[in-house]
Amino acid sequence: PIAELDSAEKRIHPFPVYNRLRQTTPVRYDETRSCWDVFRYDDVHAVLKDPAAFSSRRALAVREKETILTMDPPRHNQMRSLVNKAFTPKVVNDLGPRIAAITDELLDSVLSQGRMDIVHDFAVPLPVIVIAELLGVPPEDRHLFKEWSDVLVKGPEQNTDEEFRQVIDEKIKATDELTAYFTKIISQRRTETAEDLISILLRSEIEGQKLSDEEVISFSILLLAAGNETTTNLITNGVRRLTEDPQLQQRLSQTPEDIPAFIEEVLRYYPPVQAIGRVATRDIEIGGQRIKAGDQVVSWVASANRDETKFDNPDQFILERKPNSHLSFGFGIHFCLGAPLARLEGQIAIRKMMERMKEIQLQSGIQLTPIPSPFVYGVKEFPVSFRTLQF
Ligand code: HEM
Repeated sequence: PIAELDSAEKRIHPFPVYNRLRQTTPVRYDETRSCWDVFRYDDVHAVLKDPAAFSSRRALAVREKETILTMDPPRHNQMRSLVNKAFTPKVVNDLGPRIAAITDELLDSVLSQGRMDIVHDFAVPLPVIVIAELLGVPPEDRHLFKEWSDVLVKGPEQNTDEEFRQVIDEKIKATDELTAYFTKIISQRRTETAEDLISILLRSEIEGQKLSDEEVISFSILLLAAGNETTTNLITNGVRRLTEDPQLQQRLSQTPEDIPAFIEEVLRYYPPVQAIGRVATRDIEIGGQRIKAGDQVVSWVASANRDETKFDNPDQFILERKPNSHLSFGFGIHFCLGAPLARLEGQIAIRKMMERMKEIQLQSGIQLTPIPSPFVYGVKEFPVSFRTLQF
């Protein structure tokens, strides 16, 4: 993380730091991390809007394959249109009843206890199960997916060289296992076609172009890495907000139609992804600073979302905020492909909790621990107590 976020406390409440940096050094070069930081809404927006000047290509980790996330036009356009065909609003909306059923199942197993850890009991398993079903993975293999996706998003906790190497080794192993797993699934789908995402991806074509098996595999792995931890944190950050404001909790249980607006405001207020990286392709000026070709540029979405020139009373959580043009799913050509799915999962998770639980509170004496990742915003555990409405 940036040097100013030098304690767990500040990483749980980083927003005053972002506000100060946005006022004092809106675009600055950080010598220790060797990159630019961009804090204002308009500047973040300008960077994300201009893929010709700010490229998404970056050095890939070992075994990491090029995916749409790290491609620039024109390849990005081609790939994105192909995967868009598989990830249509219909595919996502049809998942609604299944997401609701999975949510109920997860709540069923903890409700009678009157307490649960939102992260482990609820917000981690929900997106993993959903993505596994979407991809067409048989239910008995779900636990494998949970393990693999945990490893893929894991960062070192202590920052020692040894630990760093160990994390890398685990990621390589998980990627190899996932590749072998998907290779098997793909060969099955080639003989007996189905309606899951992998089958649709294998069939999709643009101007006679199809995805290779390798591309289908790396895209599937990207979905696990990009979709699971982010959605986990959306749900947990939403519940955190509800425990901070009991009136809001009451209001949502009385007017569930406000839940979509609640999720949008959670995305703005506690964004699961705090920053987005790019590389300058040419010398360019941003916020009065001269950025050189080849420089790394980090756009702080978590700061842009609190920019007072864009949002009224940005540090207040306002359910009625309209428009709510937060940048939490990015902007432009790389705008999050999974946004409709993440929103749907977030909305259903909160709706089911409001239907079945009340007086949700953070258990007393709990010190929140931030996730040890520079860009992901969330907590490792969020133990709550509650009263049950029905189970
Ligand atoms: C891209 C955030 C959930 C798949 C992105 C980007 C952001 C983001 C900020 C843009 C990255 C960039 O510009 O470099 C989030 C958040 C989520 C979420 C906050 C949850 C609340 C999901 C889910 C999936 C997904 C559920 C899929 C199942 C993707 C993919 C891309 C992407 C494939 C790359 C799109 C492209 O490069 O064209 N996401 N995401 N995300 N996201 Fe999400």
